[in-house]
Amino acid sequence: MSHAANAPQRLTARRSGPLSGRIRAPGDKSISHRAFILGLLTIGETRIEGLLEGDDVLRTGAACRALGASIERLGPGSWRVRGAGLGSLPAPAETLDFGNAGTGSRLMMGVVGGHAVTARFDGDASLRKRPMRRILDPLELMGARVLEQGEGGRCPILLEGTPEPAPIEYRTPVASAQIKSAVLLAGLNSPGRTVVIEREASRDHTEKMLAHFGAQVRSETFGEDGRKITLEGRPKLAPRPVIVPADPSSAAFAIVAALVTPGSEIVVEGMMMNPLRTGLLTTLLEMGADIVELDRRVEGGEDVADLRVRASALKGVDAPAARAPSMIDEYPILAVAAAFAAGETRMRGLHELRVKESDRLAAVADGLKANGVDCAIEGDDLIVRGAGGQAEGGGLVATHLDHRIAMSFLVMGLASRREVAVDDETMIATSFPTFKPSMAALGAQFS
Ligand code: S3P
Repeated sequence: MSHAANAPQRLTARRSGPLSGRIRAPGDKSISHRAFILGLLTIGETRIEGLLEGDDVLRTGAACRALGASIERLGPGSWRVRGAGLGSLPAPAETLDFGNAGTGSRLMMGVVGGHAVTARFDGDASLRKRPMRRILDPLELMGARVLEQGEGGRCPILLEGTPEPAPIEYRTPVASAQIKSAVLLAGLNSPGRTVVIEREASRDHTEKMLAHFGAQVRSETFGEDGRKITLEGRPKLAPRPVIVPADPSSAAFAIVAALVTPGSEIVVEGMMMNPLRTGLLTTLLEMGADIVELDRRVEGGEDVADLRVRASALKGVDAPAARAPSMIDEYPILAVAAAFAAGETRMRGLHELRVKESDRLAAVADGLKANGVDCAIEGDDLIVRGAGGQAEGGGLVATHLDHRIAMSFLVMGLASRREVAVDDETMIATSFPTFKPSMAALGAQFS
């Protein structure tokens, strides 16, 4: 089912009473993609619990099927994958259509790039705008060939993989878990050792899951903020159960909604606390957010916690560029929090936001301005001057096929003087299909 093909649907959020109750965000999107992919590359039965059943992940599942996996849904969030196995993937008969999914398409390019198969990658209008050269460059170094590509190395792309990927040492040009993961996934089928060096550490779910499935992978610190990851090629992967924790990038919407909606108190359950994903929490705490960890524990190899969140008087802060990789998807909702804070918030080093599902830097600034919020873009920084307490609202926000822009501005509408509308809510299904009912259960008013 393609949401890209669906007619846009407008949705409006209006000032809501205090939010209260408990919410569990759906499974983490990054881990869900990787669970399907590792399942494909492993012979035997991989069981997944808590999978995000959003469009993006289901596209990756469909691509895994096209590459030889058999995949079954056993119940809500519960899936079984029988993989084709590393080194023995069949060529897909049809185009791998990733819809809106940047992560799925880029990781799968790594898989295809390291196998003797040729596959065509495509997606919706948003995916077709996203840069893929950053993935294709290292894959070409490993021996893959790009037979066809859209302008500037964009989708649609016809990629011919190599049966024997060259072992390389690769320094990622930007902190990107997607680039790192594509190289590691291609390197899995290499007869030698693949090394990826990143100047700033990005999310480490691929490394962790590879180790969980039995690969020999080592991660060391590199320089002040970086990492060096070393993977031994052609491991014998063994099926392992995967339990997917709640996605902090989705939980972020409920957290900020409770912080800015007066009188609110909610509990966010089972949120993943991987330090490479918690930059938003760090920043919100600096802003004066009343967020308390109730119960930290380990689930499925990741730290998780229940968080109690109470409405708070926030103040503006300076969010350093070095923190960007750990909250890269959270800037739209952080900008909304900043709109309710007293004083100026400066978010530094946001160049990567220009190449997400939309140009998020522009989309956020436009959305804030449409709702009467004083903001500016200076180079790669976003500056938001909050009035403290309340935002004006009253705007119609252009979402540009971007789920996080839609959800962020709907949250804004819950606490603004006037209602806030987004021009399209359909894309929310890519990452948080239950957003509307889950938020409504806390007291959010949408129409
Ligand atoms: C992701 C990595 C991030 C993030 C994306 C998911 C992943 O992208 O924005 O939503 O699962 O690896 P980059 O690695 O390109 O920064």
